[in-house]
Amino acid sequence: MKHLFLSLIVALLATTACTTNTNTQSSDSQTATPQAQSDENPVIETILSRRSIRAYKNQAVPRELLQQIAECGINAPNGMNAQQWELRIVDSKEWLDNATAAYKKSVKPDSPMAKQFADPSFKNMFRNAPAVIFIAHKAGPCTQVDCGLMAGNIVLSAKSLGLGSVCMMGPLGFFSTPEGEPFLKSLSLSEGYKLLLCVGIGYADEQPDARPRNKEVIKFIEQ
Ligand SMILES: Cc1cc2nc3c(=O)[nH]c(=O)nc-3n(C[C@H](O)[C@H](O)[C@H](O)COP(=O)(O)O)c2cc1C
Repeated sequence: MKHLFLSLIVALLATTACTTNTNTQSSDSQTATPQAQSDENPVIETILSRRSIRAYKNQAVPRELLQQIAECGINAPNGMNAQQWELRIVDSKEWLDNATAAYKKSVKPDSPMAKQFADPSFKNMFRNAPAVIFIAHKAGPCTQVDCGLMAGNIVLSAKSLGLGSVCMMGPLGFFSTPEGEPFLKSLSLSEGYKLLLCVGIGYADEQPDARPRNKEVIKFIEQ
């Protein structure tokens, strides 16, 4: 009996040692070299491979995906979690086409902006995207940064779901013109909220090369 008891203790200790050992191994593998991590890390891969897309397939984006992307947006860090932002999702071709038609009317034919209309690939004023998420903010010390972080979440979650996207501020001027006013109204933003940027989303029909980035701006400070 005494022998059996001792055997049990030894077996238990051996099991615990194995478990501890396995945990140590797994935590060791999590602290592999940073290079190996970035090669295999899907988040880093998504960040580094995302590009602004301005040509889209003629394919609607399912609303469940747009909803999921918007929810990723509102999960961005934001000052004091005040969440002074609003999102409006437009995936109506009619709305986007009508806004574009009104925009065309608002642009003088001899202005540089009018050149884009002659491009045979021009579909709409939102860089041809079949869906647009408008981001509005309430003026405040953090809200522009908050909305930028939100847009970052939006473009990255879109990319991770197999969608292309482009952040845009260019089209927003239209919404303060007389022609744009009805479209701004239709977004029904709350009192005090102003459009800050928008993000076009759709299935990419191009694979642009990465635009160069200047790594010189990154510096470690010693002491
Ligand atoms: C705040 C902001 C505003 C932008 N506005 C426009 C725009 O109006 N039209 C456009 O085509 N791209 C716009 N872009 C996209 C940039 O041109 C693009 O992110 C930049 O050239 C880098 O290319 P990449 O996104 O492919 O890495 C904007 C991006 C940001 C962050």
